[in-house]
Amino acid sequence: MTSLANNPVWQDFCKAVKASSIGSNNLRILDAAGLSIDLSTQRHSEAVANAAEKLLVAQNFEQARDELFNGSPINWTENRAAWHTALRASNPPAAVADTITLERKRMLSFVEQANSKNQYRNVIHLGIGGSDWGPRLVVESLAGLTGRRNLRFASNVDAHAITAALDGLDPVDTLIIVASKSFTTIESLANAACAIDWLRAGGIKNPLDQFVAVTANPKAARDFGIKDEHIFQFWDWVGGRYSIWSSIGLPIALGLGVDAFEDLLQGAAAMDEHFLTAAIEHNAPIQMALSGVANRSVLGYASFALCPYDARLRHLIPWLQQLEMESLGKATTKDGKTLDVPSSPAVWGMPGTDSQHTFFQWLHQDNIGAPVDFILCATPDHRYNRHHRLLVANCLAQRAALWQGKPLDQALIEVQRKEVDPTKATAMAQHRVHPGGRPSTLIVLPRLDAKSLGALLALYEHKVFTQGVIWGINPFDQWGVEFGKQLANDIERRLDALGSDPEVSPYDPSTAHWVKKLAGG
Ligand code: F6P
Repeated sequence: MTSLANNPVWQDFCKAVKASSIGSNNLRILDAAGLSIDLSTQRHSEAVANAAEKLLVAQNFEQARDELFNGSPINWTENRAAWHTALRASNPPAAVADTITLERKRMLSFVEQANSKNQYRNVIHLGIGGSDWGPRLVVESLAGLTGRRNLRFASNVDAHAITAALDGLDPVDTLIIVASKSFTTIESLANAACAIDWLRAGGIKNPLDQFVAVTANPKAARDFGIKDEHIFQFWDWVGGRYSIWSSIGLPIALGLGVDAFEDLLQGAAAMDEHFLTAAIEHNAPIQMALSGVANRSVLGYASFALCPYDARLRHLIPWLQQLEMESLGKATTKDGKTLDVPSSPAVWGMPGTDSQHTFFQWLHQDNIGAPVDFILCATPDHRYNRHHRLLVANCLAQRAALWQGKPLDQALIEVQRKEVDPTKATAMAQHRVHPGGRPSTLIVLPRLDAKSLGALLALYEHKVFTQGVIWGINPFDQWGVEFGKQLANDIERRLDALGSDPEVSPYDPSTAHWVKKLAGG
């Protein structure tokens, strides 16, 4: 792929976006798999729509989408498919149908057996990144609905996490899940070792009998000592951050029930159907992707904020951070060239309304700000109607204020109620001006349940995939995470050099200083 910046189709897209109006009042609400996606407060015009369609053609989007769904090796740097859609298809593709169905059966019958024997009141899930955020998000956001077991998650190698997770539990009735695609991740293995000690200290003779592994590396799990019937597989054609639909969903089935897990898959499959069949102008993942590309590469927004107006969705933020930033945080195209337009915004956020009292000042009046994704659930799962009315009102109000802004003359009227001196009034009014024209998307779920959550996660997966195709980067690898891990293994070895003066020559003075200072710790 040659330079995107010099591509006339790309240049037309940029021109159209820059010419598109701020503050237009055109309603643009797309319905997808039961969700409503309102893009009315994103920059758009007919010219943008036409240029966007040409851009998608120029980037071979339709072929790429077909390859995503037919299992072609679109993860070109690892020569693998990215076939997470097959895991939730009602009729999985023939090539993997038996594999998927057999493993799903094994996992769900393990859950049903545990249910029938009333086993494992407590479940500790040990995993990190894609082996943690998905199940943690679903279990913690839906626990109020159908919680069956006491589920706790520990991901960090900071042992305060595993200590807290194990605290106060009865070892006799506790199951440990070690979820790791590679089964080599240092955090998960270190925490698993802690859990073995804790079970043993609790009088459990064979701690590993209370362990299950979820992994694409069954040999490593077996070598770790986990018995075959407790090893649930997924495969290298499933990306870690796209793996919630696989056996990585085991804690969801254990904690919320098999039905909840199947509903999650159905919701995502419905979004797959929409993504595959809806026309471009009505296709929610594609339109969200195009707005995201426009905001980042054309309008220069270096980040976007995710503000779910539902506190139960707090883990959606780290889940999306990993999905977006690990998928798109790279600048090398298929032919090894450096991408010459900005890509991949930083993703950050917080649930509303807490976010309003934390960083909305910046969103409203910083001289650049950032686009926002707002998420609302139309129907709450509590009986406090006024609370819900206030939540909805605040969400809609913040979004309207970001878009319409407050010009000087309007601010002046407010100030003049108290300040009669025109010079002082104007100066004061300037502080109250809101530039406006700040783009946002509103996603409305009818209710927060497994189906709508499945659809929401698949919506973002397909948005990210589409952006990867437009920018010509591979959204399914993550080479950038390895170097830090290599250095960490080396530094840990040097820190562990008890008593002797650790050799630190390969490192910069600061790293060398702290390795020496903290050695033996
Ligand atoms: O370091 C990043 C990463 O490789 C993620 O891509 C992955 O989700 C996470 O670590 C955990 O990896 P694993 O599931 O192999 O333990």
